[in-house]
Amino acid sequence: MKPMNLKTINNELYLNNFSIKELAEKYNTPLYIFDEKHLRYNMSNYVNNFKSKKFNTNIVYASKAFLVPELCKIVNEESLFMDAVSIGDLFVAKSSSFPMEKIVFHGNNKSNQELEYAIDNQVGIIVVDNLDELVRLDKLASLKKVVVNTMFRVNPGIDVHTHKYIQTALYVSKFGESIYDDDTINNVIEYYKSSKYVKLLGFHSHIGSQIKEVKPFLLNVDKMLYFTKSIEDKFDMKLSHVNLGGGFGIKYYEKDSDILLEYVLNKIIKRIESVSKKLNLHIDNVYIEPGRSIVGTPGITVYECGIIKHTYGGKNFLFINGGMTDNIRPALYQAKYEVEVVKLNSEAEKVVVDVVGKCCESGDFIAKDVTIPTTNPGDYLVVYGTGAYTYSMSSNYNNLIKPCVIFVSDEVKVVSRREEINDLNRLF
Ligand code: LLP
Repeated sequence: MKPMNLKTINNELYLNNFSIKELAEKYNTPLYIFDEKHLRYNMSNYVNNFKSKKFNTNIVYASKAFLVPELCKIVNEESLFMDAVSIGDLFVAKSSSFPMEKIVFHGNNKSNQELEYAIDNQVGIIVVDNLDELVRLDKLASLKKVVVNTMFRVNPGIDVHTHKYIQTALYVSKFGESIYDDDTINNVIEYYKSSKYVKLLGFHSHIGSQIKEVKPFLLNVDKMLYFTKSIEDKFDMKLSHVNLGGGFGIKYYEKDSDILLEYVLNKIIKRIESVSKKLNLHIDNVYIEPGRSIVGTPGITVYECGIIKHTYGGKNFLFINGGMTDNIRPALYQAKYEVEVVKLNSEAEKVVVDVVGKCCESGDFIAKDVTIPTTNPGDYLVVYGTGAYTYSMSSNYNNLIKPCVIFVSDEVKVVSRREEINDLNRLF
């Protein structure tokens, strides 16, 4: 829930021995702060706990959760692959000198421009979403006389218990093609078999996000491996790769449930080994794609408090100088977060507040009905677990400017500068 190197000393919060209050004063608020040591720990934890003697294991960092050039560098240093979902992601990865052969390129509606960019920049694996895309990719690859490695995204029809906006594998999902849609799958595989330039390594699935039970992940292994086997038999072909996607959940607040990640990873590995053996498959490369569970907990957001407004109706609102523009998740997914004042005044009387932003929207809130010591304007408030899907989903609504992002280890690095007011004019 909190960054691993966060400490309270004399009622004040410190990260890797840097005072959060001083960081907020120096870099201005809102401020996204990441514990770099925790980021690296999470990455190596995946590498160390997702291992098998029977096949190679590859951790693909899902960059949609949070992407800046400095993170690309760390992802590469920690030996992870990285995914991309648009030409923009590919461009950022490339300009950060991320090895393009370690990119897995996703997307349900890739343009020809994006496919061409991926081919020209030797992207490692393109995950094809549908037959139309496969045909377009084949035409581009044959014009360029380049063999392209692909996986095909399928939808295994698994109903995970998570927010409906982040379920991806129901029968009606917009991603991939259903493993039960025989006609479509036949057409896709026949096309692959007829193509000289587009190679099918295996299948990809991603069943949803913020999942904390082991069962759906194991069901996904079973469905993906049985499906792989059925295609091998039916089309007399061999498939060597499988990509099981991401979705490993995190604990956001005190009463939230947790996931025993190492246990879940071990169970997945054992299941792949046993089912592959039973089906006599020859999978030599397995991929998983965690995003949130790598960057979520190491990240926090610091805001400056305004007044606490006590309304006629009895509700108290603590105003902060950010909100839905830097963290859309409460508004979009009813996400809950834990908040804490940066410098605790232990004498202060407790108050129950909704922590709200400054946008012209009643949905602009960060936390509801939280009990905190009464704050004064100018105090700082920290929100925990904001590393994933906050900065990457941020906006300039109401012409608020995007906050600075810093990585803190034994030093402080500005990895994305705070926007300036003039940046708001850059497109006009
Ligand atoms: N792989 C694919 C193909 C994905 O679409 C995603 C997430 C991931 C991996 C990584 O999933 P993770 O490990 O982060 O759960 N904005 C939402 C989450 C959207 C997830 C989109 N796809 C949120 O803030 O909860």
